[in-house]
Amino acid sequence: LLPPLLATLLAYLIGSLSFAVIISRLMGLSDPRSYGSGNPGATNVLRSGNKAAAILTLLFDALKGYLPVLAVALWGERYGLGEGTVALVGLAAFVGHLWPVFFRFVGGKGVATAAGVLLAINPWLGGATLLTWLIIAYFFRYSSLASIVAAVFAPFYQMLIWGSSPAVLSIALMSLLLVWRHEANIKKLLKGTESKLGQKAAGAK
Ligand code: G3P
Repeated sequence: LLPPLLATLLAYLIGSLSFAVIISRLMGLSDPRSYGSGNPGATNVLRSGNKAAAILTLLFDALKGYLPVLAVALWGERYGLGEGTVALVGLAAFVGHLWPVFFRFVGGKGVATAAGVLLAINPWLGGATLLTWLIIAYFFRYSSLASIVAAVFAPFYQMLIWGSSPAVLSIALMSLLLVWRHEANIKKLLKGTESKLGQKAAGAK
């Protein structure tokens, strides 16, 4: 029981690294929790106007989901870790992003981290989900809407292509949490006050 527990705990700790905050701090930018949506995520960092910071946030928040899952998938067998732990580790990294132990449990919405987890579980699943995100973002220009739609589709892609597996359960759970985390965005989308992708926020540097 110890190896799966340790792997899950480690993934949670890695997921708890809120790169929107860390990268903004390192680059001398405002704390993303202080402007725009207040969300520590790549979309909100982009509202500071600093594209490089947003891309780095996206990359590192995705890597913290990708690497733990990949590591268990590649080397887990040596320690008796199976498919169930692969799924659990992905979920743990995602949960770390939402409730980071290093940031008083106030985290983000999990979009980039979930993308990293999906890409590591299966590149085709990750690719299909990313493509869904891109299509919605391209036509509607709302990052939140693209994330919600992609999250709704992801468990179905997994189920339709690979049938039921432990991964389906953790992907479905991630999707539910992700959509729930977008409650404020959904309200703004319905009211027509959601900000479009790349629109700058007042008061950010
Ligand atoms: O990355 C999260 C995105 O879907 C929405 O972010 O800042 O617009 O709430 P935000």
